This record gives sequence, structure tokens and C-alpha cells, in this order.
Amino acid sequence: MPLNIVVGITGGIAAYKAVGVVRALVLAGHDVHVVPTEGALRFVGKPTLEAISRNPVHTDLYEGVAEVRHVAIGQAADLIVIAPATANAIAKLAAGLADDLLGNTVLASEAPIVIAPAMHTEMWANAATQANVATLRARGVTVVGPAVGQLTGADSGPGRMEEPEAIVAAALAVVDARVAGDPGRDAPATGDLAGRRVVVTAGGTREPLDPVRFLGNRSSGKQGIALAEAARARGAEVTLIAANLEVADPAGCDIRRVSTALELRDALRAAVAGADVVVMAAAVADYRPAAVSESKIKKDQSDAGLTLELVRNPDILAELGAAPHDGTLLVGFAAETESDADRLLELGRAKRRAKRADLLVVNRVGWHAGFAADDNDVVVIGRDDRIVTEVRGTKSSVAHGIMDVVVSELGTAADGAASTR
Ligand code: PMT
Repeated sequence: MPLNIVVGITGGIAAYKAVGVVRALVLAGHDVHVVPTEGALRFVGKPTLEAISRNPVHTDLYEGVAEVRHVAIGQAADLIVIAPATANAIAKLAAGLADDLLGNTVLASEAPIVIAPAMHTEMWANAATQANVATLRARGVTVVGPAVGQLTGADSGPGRMEEPEAIVAAALAVVDARVAGDPGRDAPATGDLAGRRVVVTAGGTREPLDPVRFLGNRSSGKQGIALAEAARARGAEVTLIAANLEVADPAGCDIRRVSTALELRDALRAAVAGADVVVMAAAVADYRPAAVSESKIKKDQSDAGLTLELVRNPDILAELGAAPHDGTLLVGFAAETESDADRLLELGRAKRRAKRADLLVVNRVGWHAGFAADDNDVVVIGRDDRIVTEVRGTKSSVAHGIMDVVVSELGTAADGAASTR
């Protein structure tokens, strides 16, 4: 059903990416009304916004007074998306200020609100911003991102606005969840994964050495979260097993937080019963310290250097693959540093066979690839070692490419089951 959606744009450089949000919502058949702040119009022009949204764009509080525009836009909205949401805009929202058309629109509306913060890392980390974001979350506002990555200057870190497709997927999932009666959990009623239960692992496990140190890896959780969001946007009920995420939680998923590989195994065992799909995107430590010190390991205990004894962690994906799992599609990942494309594929094929995964997603990782990056480049290997698909692009588009294969595999399995009845 087409929705009446307000897209608020506030004054940051990421305003140019808001055009992509508006465009995606319009192409999905929704009626989009853009409310930019004066600051936003310094970064993106009103004619662009009118052309892309196919609606007039208003920004002045004192125009259209006869039609009571300052409240009419908000009252009619089914959904408000604010992208980018600057630190200033977040502070104003938290304080309930109504000194411009966007502020009035938000206060006059009962629609769910989704914000996509964008600012420099220091501004995002500032205690004032974090308190404002916590206030908004407590009021039910959904916060998408910010992503970690290159910012406007030479610096990089958390603060970059999420990609338009991720914002749109999260925003529409919020409306679907509300329609279903549970803002946090219920799956959208439609989509090619409607009625399916998908479990995704994301992030990197941490194996403690003592109360202050751990052995970990550089997984940010971006790829796993993109997979959870893609499955959710396509109608699945999603359980996300989240290991030390460095990015914001996805909307509408049942999130189980873990830290170590053993905790991830326990959470997965509890979640996997009845799942149609398990996607193992988490980077799981193969080893953990044999002993965990109850107090901080001191330098004077280890003048001659420090030798750590490590023990093997269970291979969780291999355990799932070895156990009977009829009706559950197992999707593993292979993170490899191999630079030769053929050898990379061979490593992936060997890993799929060893772990008995139904599908295996091979990605090359390195100092600047795979881990923590915004983009990814994957080959999906199926049973019989065939290449099923290759996808390159944002982690969100890679996630949708993987979900396309999942949907096709589930369809094939259902057809097979039907034909044997
Ligand atoms: O989180 P990002 O910053 O976005 O980075 C994404 C990613 C690079 C982490 C992701 O795309 C990825 O490759 N995830 C898998 C990382 C990994 O652990 O790969 P592996 O080749 O070591 O393990 C192979 C498979 O076995 C994986 O599905 C892994 O979840 C699983 N495994 C590994 C070890 C272990 N003890 N138990 C497991 O189940």
C-alpha cells in the first residue's frame, strides 16, 4: 500500500545522499513530501528535491498559513524519515523544538520516526549527542547508523550517513512492524522471505585474557547487519546474534548479544530450532586463551615477555553442518587473504565441503578489504562447487544478492519437497 512519507533533510553534506532516499521511496510507489531545513537547501537545491519527489517542497514556516501547513504535513504522514540528521537536528528533536517547518511537522505527527545521523565522529561521540540519541530511542525513534567510514575531510570513523538503500529498508520495516502490531519484532507481511525465519550472526567474537583485554578481530558487524536488514526488509522474521557490533542495531530484529565464541555457539543453538536459514557472517575466533586471569596481567609478571597458551574453539558452522539440519539452509562465509582468484575460490570450495554448508560466501579480506569496509566483493559457491552468483558493491547490495540466492534455494527446496509428496 502506498504510504505518505515525509523526508526531512537537515543541513549537512550528506544531504546530497538524501536525494537517493527520496528517489528509492518514490520508485517504491510512495507519496513523498520533502521538508528540508534552510541549512539543507545550502547543500541540495529545491528544484532537485521537487523533481525527484514529484511534489512541491516547502521549508518556510510562514508560507501556506491558510492551509495550516505547519501541522498538516505531519498529521498526514504515515512515516517520517530524517536523513541526514545532524547533531543540531537531533538536539532539537530531543528538546521538542518547533522553530522551523520540520520541527513543527515532527511534533504534529503520530507517525513513526526514523533518523539517519550524519556528523563528524567527535560530534557523534559527544556526551550531549549520545544523551539526545538515547532520549529519542527511548521515545521510540528508530536510529539507522551512523556507518563507520570516510567522512567529509581526511578523517574517518563513525558518523557517516548510512547508504540510502539501508535507510529505506529500515524505515519501511518500521512501518511494517507497526502495522503488524509490534514495533520491534514482527516481520513485514510481504516480501519473498515472508513467513521465513532467518538467523544471522554478525560482528567479531572477543576472547578475554583478563578483565581488561581480549583477543579479537576487526569485524565491525556491517556485513552481518546488512544481511539481517535485507532479510527483514524482504519479510523474514530475523534473529540477529550480535557479537560486539561497532555499528547501530538494525530495526525490527530480535537481537541476542554475545561476546565470545562459546556464547555465540550457545545463542545459536537456542535460536536455530525451526529456522529456515542460518547465515554465519560473524568472524568467530578459532582459539581462546587456555586460562582467563581474574585480575589484570601486570608487566612485572612478564618481564621476559608473555607467552599465551591458546586452546581451540569449536567450529560452530561445522557442528551445525554435521548435525541433521533438514529444512535449514546453512550459509557460511570464508574470509581469506589469498590474492589469486582461482586459489581463493578453491579455498572457499574446500571450506564449504569441510563445514558442510549449503552455500558459502567467499570474500577476500585484508588490511583494507572485507573487515570494516563499506563495500564488499563476494562469490557465492553452492553445492557441487558451482559458482551461484558474484556480487560487488555496498554491503547492503551484497546482502540482497546473497538473499536472492537464499530465496531461490528455498524455492527449489520447497518444489523438491512438493514433488516427493
Ligand atoms: O563485519 P564486517 O566488518 O562487515 O566484515 C565482514 C566479514 C569480513 C567479517 C564477513 O564478510 C566474513 O567474512 N565473515 C566470516 C569471517 C570468518 O570467520 O571467516 P572464516 O573463514 O574464518 O570462517 C568460515 C566460516 O566458519 C564463517 O561462516 C564463520 O562464521 C564460521 N566459523 C569460523 C570459526 C569458528 N570457530 N566457528 C565458525 O562457525
